[in-house]
Amino acid sequence: MRKPIIAGNWKMNKTIPEAKQLVSGLVSKLAGKSEVEIVFCPPFTALSTVKDLLKGTPYGLGAQDLYWKEKGAFTGEVSPLMLKDVGCDYVIIGHSERRQYFGETDVTVNQKVKAALAVGIKPIICVGETLAQREAGETDALIKGQTEKAFEGIEVSAIPTIVIAYEPIWAIGTGKSSSASDANQVIGLIRNTVAKLYGKETAEQMRIQYGGSVKPENIKEYMSQPEIDGALVGGASLEIDSFLKLIHY
Ligand code: PGA
Repeated sequence: MRKPIIAGNWKMNKTIPEAKQLVSGLVSKLAGKSEVEIVFCPPFTALSTVKDLLKGTPYGLGAQDLYWKEKGAFTGEVSPLMLKDVGCDYVIIGHSERRQYFGETDVTVNQKVKAALAVGIKPIICVGETLAQREAGETDALIKGQTEKAFEGIEVSAIPTIVIAYEPIWAIGTGKSSSASDANQVIGLIRNTVAKLYGKETAEQMRIQYGGSVKPENIKEYMSQPEIDGALVGGASLEIDSFLKLIHY
């Protein structure tokens, strides 16, 4: 059985005092609940603070990006070892906003996946199509391609530690979510793609989330789909009440 994973992607939100307020409020109210794995992905500046607040809890810490080099003259970048050092369990890689605004490509996504795995940080790899690609009937081919490229050169033993987030770009922050059955279909395709590369048994162990306008009102529909193993949540992860409702779906 795959344990569902709900991760809050805060994006570029929350100062340190705001992060403290959100996480301490949630920790006191969640009371160790563990039917789903819960992960917080604050901005780099709040990672250390959030790590301290998560001590003694079962909740995970994730960063939103990393660079693939160990160290050196790469102004502004954060290395895998630095994320390990601050206590990250996960790192989001290849989010569509990074692909769109910061030149992330399938090749850099693959380099980052390898770099994260090398220090024992679990990647949350994002894949997803634009509205134009969906309307042109390109979704399946595109998602298959993004998945295959992200996994190039990755050992089979790492696969169960990897999480994929299927996030249709047109559904992110727009209030327009994919129907649960459409999301389930694409996620099934991702699992088949991984099964072709690594075998069915391995692919069955890997968790694949849906992301894109997940809210307290719609999370249940996604979580009840057989292929969907959780959610990557942006907007609705930023407030105590809505995040609590997501966890108690
Ligand atoms: P959203 O963002 O929940 O605000 O749509 C999801 C994401 O981009 O990870």
